[in-house]
Amino acid sequence: MSKEKLATRLVQAGRHNAFGHGAVNPVVQRASSLIFDSLAHKRTATAGRAEGALFYGRRGTETHFALQQALTELEGGAGCVLYPCGAAAISNAILAFIGNGDHLLMTGAAYEPTQGFCDQVLTKLGVQTDYYDPRVGGNIAQQVKSNTKVVFLESPSSITMEIQDVPAIVDAIREAAPDAVIIMDNTWSGGILFKPLQHGVDITIQSGTKYLIGHSDYMLGTAVANERCWAALREHSYLMGQMVDADTAYMASRGLRTLAVRLAQQGKNALQVANWLSQQSQVATVNHPALPQCPGHEIFLRDFHGASGLFSFVLKQRLSDRQLAHYLDHFRHFAMAYSWGGYESLILANQPEELNAIRPAGPVAFEGTLVRLHIGLEDVSDLIADLADGFARIGAS
Ligand SMILES: Cc1ncc(COP(=O)(O)O)c(C=O)c1O
Repeated sequence: MSKEKLATRLVQAGRHNAFGHGAVNPVVQRASSLIFDSLAHKRTATAGRAEGALFYGRRGTETHFALQQALTELEGGAGCVLYPCGAAAISNAILAFIGNGDHLLMTGAAYEPTQGFCDQVLTKLGVQTDYYDPRVGGNIAQQVKSNTKVVFLESPSSITMEIQDVPAIVDAIREAAPDAVIIMDNTWSGGILFKPLQHGVDITIQSGTKYLIGHSDYMLGTAVANERCWAALREHSYLMGQMVDADTAYMASRGLRTLAVRLAQQGKNALQVANWLSQQSQVATVNHPALPQCPGHEIFLRDFHGASGLFSFVLKQRLSDRQLAHYLDHFRHFAMAYSWGGYESLILANQPEELNAIRPAGPVAFEGTLVRLHIGLEDVSDLIADLADGFARIGAS
């Protein structure tokens, strides 16, 4: 890994002259067919197709190689596979290491489609999934079976924000199931605030749709693997036909250049909003790992380099449907939308029973309505004023 500081590396990663042809940024090389000058060239390209030779569009072009090289370097891995979205990265990474008769350990607060993949697709393939409490730590060893092949983490979880003790989980798995592959959804950290591979995880995944792209306009998935898992992940994903178009890869490389400043500002804004929320009488709890009262805060301080812009809070009150609509329909700065990681602020809300339907390892411990915020680059005072108006609406309805 290079010795420069992160901000410098984010500006420089993947900017090899071969990818830019003299330009600052990589060329956008849109291609299915890549032409060989001679039979000898075709043979070299074919032999080197897995190691970055221009071979055929599905193996990538210079635009893809630039992004893959950058992410590999930033995550400290052996190689990177690109996918059309984060969900594809998750399902394909798991599939690369699991088969009929195998057992998977999945965090019980995983992103809902990740659970859906386990329950609806893996079951058809004869794979059994057990969900574990995201805060299980080293006790995960008790759920390991002789056929456990994959252990999947997501920290913090993207709605209730549980922080996982990754080093404790990794140590326990290495002891109880040395051959199991440990995969982590690291989307919340933008790949820079937490470094899974440094903590012994085998494969780190991001929905690049979020902070890498950063502008809510492209979809991308990324998986960076360590030496142990790289060749198997690469070849399996190739056979599954996983690739992304060159324009998206280009936009992700471009997103990298501003990732540090966007995350720093959005993290700072989010923490200010979270602190303000924690002082409001309508709020029961704020689920933000950088707040000392948040469970897992010690782990966050120990393992993370900072916080991103996504967190949630729980209202003391359970809003009725009418109140919820009145609350959500009138924000000026918070758009109501799925996803997150763009430059803009977003809001979503869930009732406890909606959350319990996607919590196979145990229900939530609250009765009020949960509100999830993604904090963007707007001025914090405008966001807080908007949230204050929201509380006034609930009070008045
Ligand atoms: C934590 C997390 N992982 C994965 C995904 C899936 O990413 P994508 O929407 O790019 O498929 C999401 C999407 O919201 C997410 O929040």
